[in-house]
Amino acid sequence: MSEAFPRRDGRLHAENVPIEQIVEAAGTPVFIYSASELDARYDALDAAFSAVPHTLCYAIKANMNLAVVNRLVTRGCGIDVTSGGELFRAQLAGGDPSQFVYSGVGKTDAEIDHALDAGIRMFNIESREELRVIDARAAERGVVAPVSFRVNPDVDPQTHPYISTGLSNSKFGIPIAEAVDAYAEAKALEHVHVVGVSCHIGSQIVNLDPIVDALQRVRSLVTELRDAGHSIELLDVGGGLGIVYDREQPPSAAEYGAAVISSVGDLGCHLIAEPGRWIAGNSGIFVTRVLYGKDNGDKHFTVVDGAMTDLIRPTLYQAYQRIEPVGPPRENTRVVDVVGPVCESADFLAQQRELPILERDDLIAVHSAGAYGFVMSSNYNGRCRAAEVLVEGDQFEIVRARDRFEDLIRGESIPEGLG
Ligand code: LLP
Repeated sequence: MSEAFPRRDGRLHAENVPIEQIVEAAGTPVFIYSASELDARYDALDAAFSAVPHTLCYAIKANMNLAVVNRLVTRGCGIDVTSGGELFRAQLAGGDPSQFVYSGVGKTDAEIDHALDAGIRMFNIESREELRVIDARAAERGVVAPVSFRVNPDVDPQTHPYISTGLSNSKFGIPIAEAVDAYAEAKALEHVHVVGVSCHIGSQIVNLDPIVDALQRVRSLVTELRDAGHSIELLDVGGGLGIVYDREQPPSAAEYGAAVISSVGDLGCHLIAEPGRWIAGNSGIFVTRVLYGKDNGDKHFTVVDGAMTDLIRPTLYQAYQRIEPVGPPRENTRVVDVVGPVCESADFLAQQRELPILERDDLIAVHSAGAYGFVMSSNYNGRCRAAEVLVEGDQFEIVRARDRFEDLIRGESIPEGLG
């Protein structure tokens, strides 16, 4: 990919805009996304699948800012949604619901109705009970729901346990061994129409073996289902392609596409992939300002104005995210914990990290923050959620205003009729 966040004249930029200039307009902490990088990543993955009929359904959970989603759907991208709220956003961002798939273990009746009314391409069903509910909701509306089962192939994706989804002990999908029976049940129902099979085994996968292994199992299933008289037109291979946070060496988009195509490309299915992190992750950074330095015993802490409430990945998954000062490089370093203002010892962006010596008011950039960053943020400790900025070339726009105090209490009231 092009360099979305280059260093020019010693200073970090987002495309052609100095980070300091963005911070002047948007304040800190702030998420900054590169539009050109989003485009380039979508295009690279799209090209990787060009040998077969396919649709990329961006996993909107990774970064659901309207401007980001709009950028992708304008290029022809479909969307993988996981809730009514995501469906609402995907539509509002200009997405075409006939290019949406809906994954998730807990679709409510209202969410199912919403998706039926929108006319999505496929429900990825995660249990037989859900199948019956979708059939009943579709019957009530006099429509037929296009469905697949998300099958769980019992393959270890070799990633963090919290983001492994394709093992038999996880809540996701139906066991692949039960799929033939489940599809038979679906076939007997009047208001669902089987159109495909789907499978997603986990996230931040940096090794192709588990993906290929899972697809081999799915491949046998597709053959078996076709023998049983089901027409399997769509094969949804899920998302999960990993990115570089530190020293990982994930497969390239081309290698990933080639591996998928060589596993299942000859089945004659229209392939769907649900990339999230690969498109958004390295298209964004998180910029925060140093408030204080302090020593507690042997440890040095750099206290910044960003926190676990903005970027929870280091806390939740012990994730490494690269950090560098926005300003000119400095020679001297020291080992620090970069921590936020939140009243939790788990509030850190980095632990025991060797960084250039940082001083009050310095800006630092936390890399690979475009996916599962802002979307996982919260208002805990009464914190206003960060601003988001989209950059293209030498232009930028604030695409989400920082929360104001009024936003923190929206919908709350002190009861008048109680007590
Ligand atoms: N499809 C399904 C059904 C999924 O559950 C997910 C992610 C994706 C696609 C997209 O996966 P990706 O291409 O982004 O790896 N918060 C965690 C990641 C959670 C992923 C959940 N599902 C993190 O920050 O690492």
